[in-house]
Amino acid sequence: MSAQDWILPGLARRETGENGLPRIAVNTPLAEAHLYFHGAHLTYFRPKSGPSTTPCLFMSGSSWFAAGRPIRGGIPVVFPWFGRRRDDPAAPQHGFARLREWSLRGAAPQPDGAVAVVLALESDAETRSLWPHDFRLELRVVVGNSLLVELRATNLSPSAFTFEEALHTYLAVADVRQVVVQGFHGPFADTSGGGWKIRQEAEGPVRLAAETDRIYLGHRNRIVVQDPTGKRALAVEREGSDAAVLWNPWIAKAKAMPDFGDDEWPFMLCVEAGNVADCAVTLPPGATHRLATRLLSEPLPSEGRATSRG
Ligand code: BG6
Repeated sequence: MSAQDWILPGLARRETGENGLPRIAVNTPLAEAHLYFHGAHLTYFRPKSGPSTTPCLFMSGSSWFAAGRPIRGGIPVVFPWFGRRRDDPAAPQHGFARLREWSLRGAAPQPDGAVAVVLALESDAETRSLWPHDFRLELRVVVGNSLLVELRATNLSPSAFTFEEALHTYLAVADVRQVVVQGFHGPFADTSGGGWKIRQEAEGPVRLAAETDRIYLGHRNRIVVQDPTGKRALAVEREGSDAAVLWNPWIAKAKAMPDFGDDEWPFMLCVEAGNVADCAVTLPPGATHRLATRLLSEPLPSEGRATSRG
């Protein structure tokens, strides 16, 4: 490793990742993480102490790591639309931010021993051909005992624009069929099978037993995924996020996805922090919007005590 590969000596360096794609590897006494320039995609986060030192993010063994293709797993950055674009189904699903090469904006050690890395993406002729607005995105990742990911979107256009966004976190679980999800309440849009049906489930924790694709709108609760098989809980906290998505493809959809192993679905659950559909963000010229999600590894609640504050 030559000296110029370090961006923070002894803490964070540039290295070659999967399929030759460059990434930043953070390795501190607190945690390790991998952040690709492709899509500003965080693929790996592992705390080194606490209730569990198992990696917190799921990564598919079948993921593409290639220009123009999204990475499957970790935390894809969804911007400026979520899912299929209604007025142009041929446009890339979940927007273009996860398909572009981002650049390094800065890196800094934090007072608590965490390390922050900032990547940026600005509009250019290619993004304007898909979405006719000027913008700057900054993704700030803070790797410590917990993981903080912030997406700042700034409007550099002369007029307001409206966008959707999500930090599409793939949580690693040991068996999604045994998982208990606390914190999702109220009605949700059931989008499984590509539809949109407003439904309300009986109050109480969510357990998964089939393909699950839900958008909870106007939802700000803390979400806790209790994974008894993995002997830990993963908590997802959000700021600047009025919508949350819960997704697992289950058996048939997993088989239909070319970049996802047929048998990988039990090992992941997406809990996404975002602003989508009716919660899309309208940003005046010069303004910045901040979306943030924090991921914490926690002990399972002892009997009779829930970890959800939601
Ligand atoms: C979720 C959507 O956010 O992302 C699902 O709710 C979608 O409908 C999933 O299947 C994965 O999307 P993609 O484009 O990464 O395959």
